Amino acid sequence: MDRIQIRGGRRLNGEIRISGAKNAALPLMVASLLTDEPLTLACVPHLTDISQLAEILAGLGVEITMNGNGHAEAAIGRVLKLHAKTITSTEAPYELVRKMRASFLVIGPLLARCHKAKVSLPGGCAIGTRPVDLHLKGLEAMGAQIELKEGYVYASAPGGLHGAHILFPFVSVGATENLMMAASIAKGTTIIENAASEPEIIDLGHCLQAMGAKIEGLGTRTLTIEGVERLKGTSHTVLPDRIETGTYLMAVAAAGGEVELVGTRADLLGGVIPLLESAGVHIQATNRGMRVARNGVHFTGVDVTTEPYPGFPTDLQAQLMALMATANGVSHISETIFENRFMHVPELMRMGADITIEHQTATVRGVERLHGAPVMATDLRASVSLIIAGLAAEGETIVNRVYHLDRGFERIEEKLSALGADIKRVKG
Ligand code: EPZ
Repeated sequence: MDRIQIRGGRRLNGEIRISGAKNAALPLMVASLLTDEPLTLACVPHLTDISQLAEILAGLGVEITMNGNGHAEAAIGRVLKLHAKTITSTEAPYELVRKMRASFLVIGPLLARCHKAKVSLPGGCAIGTRPVDLHLKGLEAMGAQIELKEGYVYASAPGGLHGAHILFPFVSVGATENLMMAASIAKGTTIIENAASEPEIIDLGHCLQAMGAKIEGLGTRTLTIEGVERLKGTSHTVLPDRIETGTYLMAVAAAGGEVELVGTRADLLGGVIPLLESAGVHIQATNRGMRVARNGVHFTGVDVTTEPYPGFPTDLQAQLMALMATANGVSHISETIFENRFMHVPELMRMGADITIEHQTATVRGVERLHGAPVMATDLRASVSLIIAGLAAEGETIVNRVYHLDRGFERIEEKLSALGADIKRVKG
């Protein structure tokens, strides 16, 4: 199994290009199921999650062609053309869905277009149990009959889905996406209250609008979707990855240096930039994105709680903790979105971090220096937090289970090497 080897202590300097957002690209690919015309997506990142979803969609009958897979083009991502001219199967099997929860999103579009679907329950994962009850209750309110049998959701809506008034008890990104897609071609109007307002939801909404959907309220907590008879194909560019952006901001802050992040947007990051600035990290908008610098002066601890957008994202919590491990002073980091997203803590402690956890809050007492160690993580964002720690640490860090990183960070070792980091992938 591949590993990443890092010799820490090098400053990062130069520029890197931020990729298209994984968590926008995945639902956008699923949206191709809503029309018999081709949907073309540009700036799709080269990641295993994307290939796995492509495999699931191909199994449903979507014809997928891909350009820009070469090395040079990889810098700006691939162009995917997805054509669901005829849906040949309405079944998403366990072997594929279990590998990636986002594939559960196919259920809404399949039900809306084909009036039936059989999709494996995704099951839990390392960061928590992650049920799909909100997705299912929403679809039931829209007229679907749902039966759970042998680990599968059997859903049908013989007369088609109809509009409904849905109030989520808490914010769910995936349930908002699933119902927004289904409602686009349901009969009548759907209102989703307490909807998610993440930039990836807005991106999906813009693409659906370009396909002919009638959606109001994008970026707010209330979405109104008036179903239309049919959607058409379109071309859409995936928005930049705010989580990758935040990750590199924190990597530079941890290792020191000055880097321009090209092709990204400050407005996608919600409260992240002000928080890092309050800790003493310099971030400046540029024509091409933003520049982050930490030269000499050390940064201070912060208190932060993960929240739905525009609050601090759970997908950057582990990276922030790695950064704060060497801050001046104490940080309190509370995780409110997932019940088990502190698996990076024991690994950071093996590198010398001083962290205690009580309930959902980690108290991080900044230490002078971390030291390299062999480490491993059980999810994507935790793995990258160990890379950040390794860049700032003295000595050698080996990060095991690299396949987690390949799910969500495009060519991470190449990007960091280009900035002067001593990092390489060790095969085997
Ligand atoms: C999306 O997951 C992201 N994934 C996650 O990124 C991200 O951490 C999460 O949103 C929160 O921002 C993708 O976009 C592909 P939720 P999602 O539904 O949609 C509970 C990464 O590292 N819940 O907003 O699955 C759920 O268990 C990944 O890129 C229910 O209880 O997240 C969680 O505690 C990890 N019932 C909370 O809601 C439901 O029916 C928020 O989950 C649905 C969710």
